[in-house]
Amino acid sequence: MAAGGRAPEPRVLICLGALLARWVAAGSGAMVIGELHEDITLPCGNISRPRGPVTWYRIDSEPVFLVSSNASLPPREPRFSLLNTSALHIGMLSLQDEGNYTCQETLNETQWFRVRLQVASGPYEVVVNISATGTLPNGTLYAARGSHVDFTCSSSARPPPVVEWWFQGLNSREEYFGDNLTVSNFTLFLMSPNLQGNYTCLAKNTRSGRQRKVTTELLVYCSPSLLSDPMRTCFLGGNVTLTCQVSGAYPPAEILWLRNLTQPKVPIQSNSRYLITQDGQSSTLTILNCSQDLDEGYYVCRAENAMGVREVDIWLSVKEPLNIGGIVGTIVSLLLLGLAVISGLTLYYSPMFCWKVGNTFRGQDIGDVMVLVDSEEEEEGEEEEDAVEEEEEEEEEENVRAELPKEVHQHGHIHRVTALVNGNLEQMGNGLQDLQDDSSEPQSDLVQEEERPV
Ligand SMILES: *[C@@H]1O[C@H](CO)[C@@H](O)[C@H](O)[C@H]1NC(C)=O
Ligand SMILES: *[C@@H]1O[C@H](CO)[C@@H](O)[C@H](O)[C@H]1NC(C)=O
Ligand SMILES: *[C@@H]1O[C@H](CO)[C@@H](O)[C@H](O)[C@H]1NC(C)=O
Ligand SMILES: *[C@@H]1O[C@H](CO)[C@@H](O)[C@H](O)[C@H]1NC(C)=O
Ligand SMILES: *[C@@H]1O[C@H](CO)[C@@H](O)[C@H](O)[C@H]1NC(C)=O
Ligand SMILES: *[C@@H]1O[C@H](CO)[C@@H](O)[C@H](O)[C@H]1NC(C)=O
Ligand SMILES: *[C@@H]1O[C@H](CO)[C@@H](O)[C@H](O)[C@H]1NC(C)=O
Ligand SMILES: *[C@@H]1O[C@H](CO)[C@@H](O)[C@H](O)[C@H]1NC(C)=O
Ligand SMILES: *[C@@H]1O[C@H](CO)[C@@H](O)[C@H](O)[C@H]1NC(C)=O
Ligand SMILES: *[C@@H]1O[C@H](CO)[C@@H](O)[C@H](O)[C@H]1NC(C)=O
Ligand SMILES: *[C@@H]1O[C@H](CO)[C@@H](O)[C@H](O)[C@H]1NC(C)=O
Repeated sequence: MAAGGRAPEPRVLICLGALLARWVAAGSGAMVIGELHEDITLPCGNISRPRGPVTWYRIDSEPVFLVSSNASLPPREPRFSLLNTSALHIGMLSLQDEGNYTCQETLNETQWFRVRLQVASGPYEVVVNISATGTLPNGTLYAARGSHVDFTCSSSARPPPVVEWWFQGLNSREEYFGDNLTVSNFTLFLMSPNLQGNYTCLAKNTRSGRQRKVTTELLVYCSPSLLSDPMRTCFLGGNVTLTCQVSGAYPPAEILWLRNLTQPKVPIQSNSRYLITQDGQSSTLTILNCSQDLDEGYYVCRAENAMGVREVDIWLSVKEPLNIGGIVGTIVSLLLLGLAVISGLTLYYSPMFCWKVGNTFRGQDIGDVMVLVDSEEEEEGEEEEDAVEEEEEEEEEENVRAELPKEVHQHGHIHRVTALVNGNLEQMGNGLQDLQDDSSEPQSDLVQEEERPV
């Protein structure tokens, strides 16, 4: 069949064999790279002179005729044609076209030129997967600060593509994150704001040089954190400003003020009673003309962004304004109290001195009664609460107590002691009458202190 029809082919093969040996030895040999489904032209040598008749063969196990400048020999397939009298033009490359080709030019003598054709394809679709991230409505990805994010990119090509990752942060140069064949992975542990930017996966066909890339913008979001006073005080009819400072939020948080009362879900709006101002990520709520019924209670500052919600409670207490008379009264009673305490202390620790000063005050007996009261106090927690309340109000007294810790008990007892004495007065007899009289003065002071409105 073919062997009979094309008698010269065995001879050609032999010639080609000799030729190939020569080319390999010479280290030459044109290499042409075509792309799948595209056209390609193979030159018949690198010669600029006018060309003689040319015939093209493909070299498989035996040479296969393709096309000739002799018009009476039709091309093997319509895809093959001669371009510019000598070059082989192949349309619609397929993978099977990859191989070795040779052209024969007949002038005074016959010359052979060899061309190696390689077919490249791709890279095709570049598949990028970035996880775990969220997606904004506009398609942009975001990752939480501190999270870890896996980046995977793959593509296919012939030959297998080199896949590489690049990173471009804000105002920074593009950074190379490494490459690999076909699939390129990396993980960023602990995402931070400086890792926010554009991540580009680039797939390269090393044979054709063709590239394909996918760029993904990744934002690094941080949830808000809140800073605020836990409690504020407003005087009746006055104004008070609550401040709420958001930090670290990206994207910026929306800051709302809520009132945890009848409508805990409805944000407070600026109106004749409330004034809300925001400066950057700091918001203030001013409450005008404080009233105890309406305004006392919890206020909630809430900051929310895509990463989460934070809330902080602020307790507002509304108080009567202090009046001068009250302050003076307080100071006077504190002074009296201080005097009483000091004299009581002096008497307690210096009975001898007491005897010298006068027989009417029997310090020794007071000390005895106090021991009794000590055990009583252990059972009564209430008394300690009283003491705490007093502490809050009476700073002067607190100073005295801090310096003389023992006196705290002693002072608290005097009142009790008196009560005990009063209760047992009859049994104790007239001998204690003096004591009662003398101790009535400090007692009245103390009672006054405790009953004074808070
Ligand atoms: C063709 O040959 C010329 C000189 O003979 C050389 O400079 C040129 O690089 C060659 N071109 C190719 C594609 O080989
Ligand atoms: C055609 O070939 C001639 C010489 O063989 C060359 O000078 C010319 O540049 C070629 N033209 C094209 C379009 O390749
Ligand atoms: C062209 O090919 C035909 C058939 O093989 C052959 O008879 C003819 O001599 C060839 N012409 C030239 C100019 O080589
Ligand atoms: C083409 O020739 C080279 C040697 O020059 C050889 O290594 C290669 O395998 C050949 N290709 C094919 C498809 O025969
Ligand atoms: C080839 O033939 C041409 C005339 O066609 C002639 O001028 C040239 O010298 C010849 N070359 C060789 C190498 O014989
Ligand atoms: C998508 O929205 C975010 C936040 O609003 C913005 O930073 C980003 O640039 C947007 N991306 C595109 C592609 O519009
Ligand atoms: C990321 O790419 C987008 C679109 O090309 C561009 O608007 C944005 O500024 C880039 N971001 C960075 C950090 O380079
Ligand atoms: C590259 O891929 C090979 C296997 O294909 C894998 O063993 C190697 O870990 C990869 N390197 C990187 C940096 O991804
Ligand atoms: C409270 O604020 C309002 C409005 O700013 C002001 O008119 C009023 O004088 C303020 N009241 C007090 C007690 O500061
Ligand atoms: C109001 O706040 C307090 C303290 O934060 C909380 O215990 C209570 O459940 C809240 N009530 C409502 C209705 O949100
Ligand atoms: C402040 O509130 C009281 C009632 O709580 C009201 O009588 C008074 O008119 C208010 N003052 C102002 C200036 O709004």
